[in-house]
Amino acid sequence: MVNSPILAPSILAGNHANLAASLREAENVEGIDWVHLDIMDGHFVPNLTFGPKTVADLRSMSKLYFDTHLMLTHPHKYVEAFAKAGSDNITIHVEPDYPIRDTLRKIKDLGCQCGICLNPDTPVEALEPFLEEVDLILCMTVQPGFGGQTFREDVLTKFATLNQWRKEGSFKWRIEVDGGVNLETAAQCKSVGVETFVAGTAFFKAENQQAFTQNIIAAK
Ligand code: DX5
Ligand code: ZN
Repeated sequence: MVNSPILAPSILAGNHANLAASLREAENVEGIDWVHLDIMDGHFVPNLTFGPKTVADLRSMSKLYFDTHLMLTHPHKYVEAFAKAGSDNITIHVEPDYPIRDTLRKIKDLGCQCGICLNPDTPVEALEPFLEEVDLILCMTVQPGFGGQTFREDVLTKFATLNQWRKEGSFKWRIEVDGGVNLETAAQCKSVGVETFVAGTAFFKAENQQAFTQNIIAAK
């Protein structure tokens, strides 16, 4: 395995009247080093979440790695704000029309790691121009916008392709899955090279978050 396994709970599934408590809940689980922050603009996706001020306030109370997923039509206008708010990684989508390469470089210049993300129906080839630029590749396994949806098995072939490209090109980027991740779907993803897992509903609803986490990140 190129990278160590990581589970990043998504606080989209937490309590938005008390995100601090949800973040603390995740941070208290042994083996959790990342948290996934879903930023939605009500335009690229049909839902709204929170902005840089919320991220900055959460930053002041947490040492977790902030994995920020921007679901925005104009991500290039906001990367600086989310970097200054304390993001460690910023992931942007490949679908909207904006200067993607410049934005990835800007994220790096701002001192963050950068990721590129694909919707379930976007072909994996759309990523090819950016393979040298990124630290992480995220494939959505649901249509972005809402938690609690069903995992799309048809995306598994993309992970296999990415895993192949990573081996052939000796790339180091993480391969991350987001959407409908549970113990069963995580195992499917692991078998095709995924080592970075986002889980919202399954993590926050788990009866035993410790056991859930260990099951996902346990080395094979
Ligand atoms: C969906 C978000 C996901 C979401 C996943 O648009 O990008 O990160 O939190 O939620 P679950 O794990 O419930 O599918
Ligand atoms: Zn996400």
